[in-house]
Amino acid sequence: MGTAGYDLVVVANRLPVDVTLGEDGEPTWTRSPGGLVTALEPVMQNADGAWVGWGGSPDLELDPFDADGMRLVPVPLSERELEDYYEGFSNDTLWPLYHDVIEPPQFHRQWWESYRKVNWRFATAAAEQAAHGATVWVHDYQLQLVPAMLRQLRADVRIGYFHHIPFPALEIFAQLPWRKQVVEGLLGADLIGFQRAGDASNFVRVVRRFTDLTTRGQVVTITKHGKVERHVRAAAFPISIDSKKFDALARTPEVQQRAKEIRTELGDPKVLLLGCDRLDYTKGIRHRIKAYGELLEDERLSVADTTLVQIASPSRENVGAYQQLRDDVELLVGRINGDYGELGHAAIHYMHHSYPMEEMAALYLAADVMLVTALRDGMNLVAKEYVAARSDDRGCLVLSEFTGAADELTGAILVNPHDIAGLKDAITYAVHLDPREARKRMRRLRKRVLENDVALWSESFLAVLTAVPVRGESGTTT
Ligand code: G6P
Repeated sequence: MGTAGYDLVVVANRLPVDVTLGEDGEPTWTRSPGGLVTALEPVMQNADGAWVGWGGSPDLELDPFDADGMRLVPVPLSERELEDYYEGFSNDTLWPLYHDVIEPPQFHRQWWESYRKVNWRFATAAAEQAAHGATVWVHDYQLQLVPAMLRQLRADVRIGYFHHIPFPALEIFAQLPWRKQVVEGLLGADLIGFQRAGDASNFVRVVRRFTDLTTRGQVVTITKHGKVERHVRAAAFPISIDSKKFDALARTPEVQQRAKEIRTELGDPKVLLLGCDRLDYTKGIRHRIKAYGELLEDERLSVADTTLVQIASPSRENVGAYQQLRDDVELLVGRINGDYGELGHAAIHYMHHSYPMEEMAALYLAADVMLVTALRDGMNLVAKEYVAARSDDRGCLVLSEFTGAADELTGAILVNPHDIAGLKDAITYAVHLDPREARKRMRRLRKRVLENDVALWSESFLAVLTAVPVRGESGTTT
């Protein structure tokens, strides 16, 4: 950047890397996990931009530095703030509330105070990095107050906000004691992006209910002293993956070879089922495993020719609901393996770790049936990765209706994961799917995923955002 700051500033809870301090006091970093990183990295590498976020360890006070072709600006968080802002308000209040209260959200005033304080810190850091008239793109539920705070600090910048997770129905959102403050925080943005059209309309309903502002369609008019000040637009921008990169990776001889090895290592099952999620109660892992266990019990499937690989990557391990989920899943897996497994034929291969992209691509290629059974999910990028990996047009995707991806991926076998009988039928249908029908479905899925990739997602969001006039430009502000 010049002395004047960056033209594009991304603000997200996490930096795209995990930072630790080396013995010499210099930062060393490794890539950090998460869908957001996958989605935004290519955008940032193509722009001269700065990324403001937390480095992944507590109490890390670091100057901005360059990594992976990006300017990274670490925001420090103390142990206490991690408990209150991150594990508490973000992941034990907002996360369950926004995912249809699958788990009961906890409301604590102290967590809210920390959320406000930390959001202010992110807003200040972004304000320091942005050039005059810059575009600032704020991400996700951890930072919903940043748009209004940033506007207060820097009236000259364009502010976009993208909500990666679902936005709940009014009747659920209404539970939040700080609902008005959260809505006002978001309305600091010029453009608010959601995964699905339904999320955007939920938001507009919430605006109508908890503010006096007028709305027309998905546009909210902000007035000050009776005069129109600006407009805020809410719209759907379904996120995607770097589909071509994933497709190319899955075509490499190394990945193809590894896919064969995986099947051999698993004892060459006739049918390989795969589940792959962050270990989160929104993902419907219990429902999926229960359905699979019952299929073995009913003898509609047998371990002699079927196996399920379930990858559950560790996530938010200090939050009670996640610890409970791990216990539940591991008990269930142990029971099913005990009841139905045989020497050389495990019913379920369960792994509680995360894997590099190459291994994921090989697993996708090896799997006959991919099970995505989330109870609620903003988008679900695993479903899109599976499709992008299948350049052989084989394989079959069983996909929950409650994912954002289901709006787009209509070639999948859509399921309601709450309906265990229906889920069992869908898995059986997928296992026995006629290869011609499978190919037809996969071609349709691939067309969609390859066309609508992450580059298109960010380009379309930024195109709408940069069309917003900022203060000082001709014909502005009304
Ligand atoms: C979801 C959220 C992201 C988050 C990711 C990983 O995809 O939308 O904002 O980064 O989960 O969760 P974590 O709590 O580890 O950042």
